[in-house]
Amino acid sequence: MNIQDIYSDLPPLKTERLLLRKITTEDLDDFYAWASDPDVTQYVTWYSHTNPEETQEFINRILGRYKYAKIAPWAIVDRQENRMIGLNGFCTWDTRHHRAELAYVLSKPYWGKGYITETSQAIINFGFQRMNLNRIAARCRVPNIGSARVMEKCGMTYEGTLREVALIKNEYVDLKHYAILKKEWQTINSEQANGK
Ligand SMILES: CC(C)(COP(=O)(O)OP(=O)(O)OC[C@H]1O[C@@H](n2cnc3c(N)ncnc32)[C@H](O)[C@@H]1OP(=O)(O)O)[C@@H](O)C(=O)NCCC(=O)NCCS
Repeated sequence: MNIQDIYSDLPPLKTERLLLRKITTEDLDDFYAWASDPDVTQYVTWYSHTNPEETQEFINRILGRYKYAKIAPWAIVDRQENRMIGLNGFCTWDTRHHRAELAYVLSKPYWGKGYITETSQAIINFGFQRMNLNRIAARCRVPNIGSARVMEKCGMTYEGTLREVALIKNEYVDLKHYAILKKEWQTINSEQANGK
């Protein structure tokens, strides 16, 4: 299993309420609407977009990654409204150690509906089933309680906080580290199948 096998044609994933699919240039208006919201970008590594051209550049970078079969996010689409409302996917994949890191961002009006838990669970399933992963990790800033909660709801274990481990927007920040192992994911799945 290598990155090319998956990312040369990232398949769509359907969840109960949402669709994960490749981003397209038609997503520009929807994407800019939330990429320009400072509340959305507060805890991510990039600054709020100040004009649609910045969003277009962001889209172009992702399209370039699809083209060259590099690791890239899915666009999250609200199936009812057919609107692109976020991004979710792996931001690193270490094929030697069978581990990857998950990242996500969602438009503010859609927060608190369980959407990122829903999409992350689908992506975690994909990672263990299709990418031959043994470990899926995620990290968040300490004040980002919603993000930490998503990781917990996805069955991840808190492994500790690394102090000033990243330089984000000119600030050294502490990051909380979470991860789920394949054997833990298998246990959760078998418990769910047995109705526990
Ligand atoms: C963090 C984020 C991805 C969460 O997405 P979401 O779809 O709202 O998450 P969910 O609804 O699946 O779950 C959020 C959980 O956190 C809880 N939560 C959110 N904010 C909270 C807060 N300030 N205090 C306590 N709990 C909070 C919610 O109640 C929910 O838990 P529950 O289901 O047990 O009630 C979204 O808020 C976001 O995109 N934020 C901006 C970008 C970002 O921070 N990305 C992550 C970078 S690490």
